Amino acid sequence: MDPSFRVVLYVLFLAMFYSVTDAGFFSAVARLEKLVQEEREIVAAVKQHIQNGGKVSADMKRYVDSFDDNNTVPEPDYIAHHPVRAYFLIKRLSKITLSETKKLTGKEVQLPTVEDLHMTALALIVLQDVYSLDMRSLVQGQLVMVSQSTNGAEPQITEICGKDPTFTLDPSDTYYIGEVACKENKFYQAVLWFNLTLEIMREKEKSLLKIGDEQTDRPGPRMRDVLLKLADTVQKIKWDRDVFMAVSKLGAKKTNAEGLSHLSNLLENAISSLSKPIRTEIPHINYENLCRLGVLKNRAPHPTLTCRYVRPNPYFYLSPAKMELLHERSPLVALYHDVITDKEVNKMKDIALRRMGRSPVVADDGGEMFSRTRVSETGWIFDTEHPMIAKLSRRVGYITGLDVNLPYGEAFQVLNYGLGGFYEPHVDYFRDEQPVLLTNGQRIATFLFYLSDVKAGGATVFTRLNLTVPAVKNSAVVFHDLKKSLAFEQDSEHAGCPVLMGSKWIANKWIHTHGNEFRWPCGLTPEE
Ligand SMILES: *[C@@H]1O[C@H](CO)[C@@H](O)[C@H](O)[C@H]1NC(C)=O
Ligand SMILES: *[C@@H]1O[C@H](CO)[C@@H](O)[C@H](O)[C@H]1NC(C)=O
Ligand SMILES: *[C@@H]1O[C@H](CO)[C@@H](O)[C@H](O)[C@H]1NC(C)=O
Repeated sequence: MDPSFRVVLYVLFLAMFYSVTDAGFFSAVARLEKLVQEEREIVAAVKQHIQNGGKVSADMKRYVDSFDDNNTVPEPDYIAHHPVRAYFLIKRLSKITLSETKKLTGKEVQLPTVEDLHMTALALIVLQDVYSLDMRSLVQGQLVMVSQSTNGAEPQITEICGKDPTFTLDPSDTYYIGEVACKENKFYQAVLWFNLTLEIMREKEKSLLKIGDEQTDRPGPRMRDVLLKLADTVQKIKWDRDVFMAVSKLGAKKTNAEGLSHLSNLLENAISSLSKPIRTEIPHINYENLCRLGVLKNRAPHPTLTCRYVRPNPYFYLSPAKMELLHERSPLVALYHDVITDKEVNKMKDIALRRMGRSPVVADDGGEMFSRTRVSETGWIFDTEHPMIAKLSRRVGYITGLDVNLPYGEAFQVLNYGLGGFYEPHVDYFRDEQPVLLTNGQRIATFLFYLSDVKAGGATVFTRLNLTVPAVKNSAVVFHDLKKSLAFEQDSEHAGCPVLMGSKWIANKWIHTHGNEFRWPCGLTPEE
């Protein structure tokens, strides 16, 4: 591992246990909600400073001038819970410097960085890709999912959010997003964003003939640059001799309308023959389909769906738990409704908000690392911190019939997902030797509380069981990670779908084999 990376690791590891805020804004929507509030204070303070005859830098002046007073009207959620609107928030704030802002406002503030902007652009790329969002709508801040049907029927259109002309991406934004896609080696997505950039620019310039002699004083990318960048990206996917020749012929000449038109035509052809690279491994092919199902409203109930009232313990004698059995044979997957109260939810969020750091994943060498496969923030909450938390742990024990006391059950892990935040298909058991296996044993069951609704996206999907579980506040999904024989239950593989709109909060509790030797039922055959 790169030594500088280790340092970052260490700092963020501390952040999980102490109140250190050094993770990016992109990694938790809760941070963005706060940023919307803070921005209003920053703008007010800077405007005051200018009114009093104070000097500010050109960047700061441009920033406060561009800030529409009418922006302050909507709720923070209106901006923080929407990927395109949040992109604008982060973009304008990443253009001003921390030192000047501190000087002018006299306050300790945290501002988004270029990495935040990069990751927010990446969120837009991922969301567009996973949910097949219509790009022309996305440009206007409108979220429209287009589901291609398999039997050749008309595609199904689902509008998730209407447009708001205040938040319209311009060619410099779509070009920037394309560049981010390139840097992330998502060349097909980059082609889509560059192609979209050209499309918007052409509409603005009205005619293709103007291609070589656009006005050079307007802001934003030049058409020549976009075409060259698009050509370069197309070549990375599939080398094309004609495109190569056309680019070489262009030479260094700045204006060559004919050559650019020719290149543009060649690229149009080349692009139309490209298709989205499909990840054919089972988890991934099912993952995206199941995630899209989670966004569709009024979808058919699960075919094997059964609901019942259950009393797993005398605690539930008067008010039985409402259980939906989603998968009965191993691995058991059950959904419990209204199993945590609003008050308990708020208590958990309160405690977690004070100590969040970006969620690590377990690396091959057993250490922790941060990964693009998981974008969310984590805080651990122990039973001793509040009687309400201890009570919740007991409830998990009653429902599962397992011993969830430390160290057999882990502390609650509370997460807030970021913009487009997701967790790719994974299993919760440890595949390799880990020190925790000796002391606590393997993870046998996962108990996952939903602490918020999600406006769109953010479902939990079981990639091998074809199951989509929507995030519904106050419910919990429970599943087994091991078979009765304690063998790995590969079918427990699951994923957190990207959050398309809203803020997703969950709390996990993992329960281990140690301490549960006599509570975990044995099966009759090794396969069980
Ligand atoms: C804000 O709204 C008011 C009234 O709706 C309008 O007069 C004003 O021009 C708007 N301000 C900006 C900067 O657009
Ligand atoms: C590229 O843009 C053109 C319009 O300029 C559009 O017709 C075409 O569908 C786009 N191609 C892709 C793959 O998005
Ligand atoms: C899940 O769905 C996929 C594709 O629709 C199908 O091939 C697979 O057999 C299904 N698996 C189960 C367990 O139903």
